[in-house]
Amino acid sequence: MTCVDKDADRIAKLNAGKIPIFEPGLEQLVENNVSADRLSFTTDLPASVATADAVFIAVGTPSRRGDGHADLSYVYGVAEEIADALDGYTVVVTKSTVPVGTGRTVSRIIGERRPGANFDVVSNPEFLRQGAAIGDFMRPDRVVIGADSERARDVMRRLYRPLYLIETPILFTSLETAELTKYAANSFLATKITFINEIADLCEKVGADVQDVARGIGLDGRIGSKFLHAGPGYGGSCFPKDTMALVRTGEECGTALRIVATVAEINDKRKRAMATRVIEACGGSLEHKTIAVLGLTFKPNTDDMREAPSLDIVPALQTAGAAVRAYDPEGMAEAEPLLPDVVWCRDAYATVENADAVVIITEWNEFRLLDLARVKALMRQPLMIDLRNIYRPVEMAEAGFRYMSVGRPVVGGN
Ligand code: UGA
Repeated sequence: MTCVDKDADRIAKLNAGKIPIFEPGLEQLVENNVSADRLSFTTDLPASVATADAVFIAVGTPSRRGDGHADLSYVYGVAEEIADALDGYTVVVTKSTVPVGTGRTVSRIIGERRPGANFDVVSNPEFLRQGAAIGDFMRPDRVVIGADSERARDVMRRLYRPLYLIETPILFTSLETAELTKYAANSFLATKITFINEIADLCEKVGADVQDVARGIGLDGRIGSKFLHAGPGYGGSCFPKDTMALVRTGEECGTALRIVATVAEINDKRKRAMATRVIEACGGSLEHKTIAVLGLTFKPNTDDMREAPSLDIVPALQTAGAAVRAYDPEGMAEAEPLLPDVVWCRDAYATVENADAVVIITEWNEFRLLDLARVKALMRQPLMIDLRNIYRPVEMAEAGFRYMSVGRPVVGGN
């Protein structure tokens, strides 16, 4: 397997065993496969494509500035380069998340550029999560393969043979169906999160506990317990972008996707509303106050800051007058250029020093078992706003904190 990128610096680093992102287990996995000669990195696209049975397109498809459409220029650009290099029957697989119809366009681009070339285009969407990518890849719930020809299906079947052996469901569909399945899956998950977030808001008003509600509904097999954790709103490089792109596709086809559109809107507002929560918890003003922020990445076990709720929350706290101190186990290098005027700290305890409130934005494991007595002693006042519900209200009250979480009763102090 050969990985190709235009960025020579990135390839040089990969060849030296340096992984450009933080993903648990990835470094070891890459090292093992490089030393077993199963994996290599290069900038030489033509040579790699010419010798391949299958070429995976895995370039970015960011939201196009202004209109929310997926920007397909990288996909189409690489399709042309692949066309020029094809040699013998090759399956060209779109792994990037691409709107319905992209596979057909890729096929047309290659066909027009290299009339008579022997290839098929297949859509094979990716369902892995950052931070759990290797496990998700090795033991997926399913594999979706959109292909028109039996020959292409056969290449994909052989490729995924190890997963056949562990009885992973492999779903063969048309190109369009596979492409849409990806967007529908992410939009449904985003909807589930947004649903429980709204229920959490209601819980706060009526004195109910959202975690119990989530458990109570999640035990119903038709609903399922996953992705029902209330929090500050979803972030990352997928849900915000993919929900928007699906809404745009719907608009283009004259089929309004009102649920998904509303989910995206609610989630955007929610991230901003989290700062208001902190301001209100601090008595309505943050002038001369110091706020400690624990966790900045959009989720734990990644250094990815894309669409992270912290990017809305931290600047809003600063605008309200707060001095912000912050710490993230892996995300600070990515966060620093995005969040000016923050005091960066070496760990959770250094962060809470002289703080008027501590806000947990990302549920890194190391924040789950803080020495609460030590935290309390270091802070100016013991106020915690836990946007991920990683502590139990009763233990926080016992530890002498005023504690506010999401969709659960406020405890302690006043
Ligand atoms: C998501 C999907 O889960 C993957 O299946 C998909 O392959 C991937 O997008 C993609 O399209 O590439 P990812 O964005 O890496 O994966 O992370 P998630 O674990 O889905 O979390 C996304 C956001 O939702 C995070 O901000 C997380 O904190 C939030 N979330 C998740 C909640 O607020 N509550 C939950 O119950 C679950």
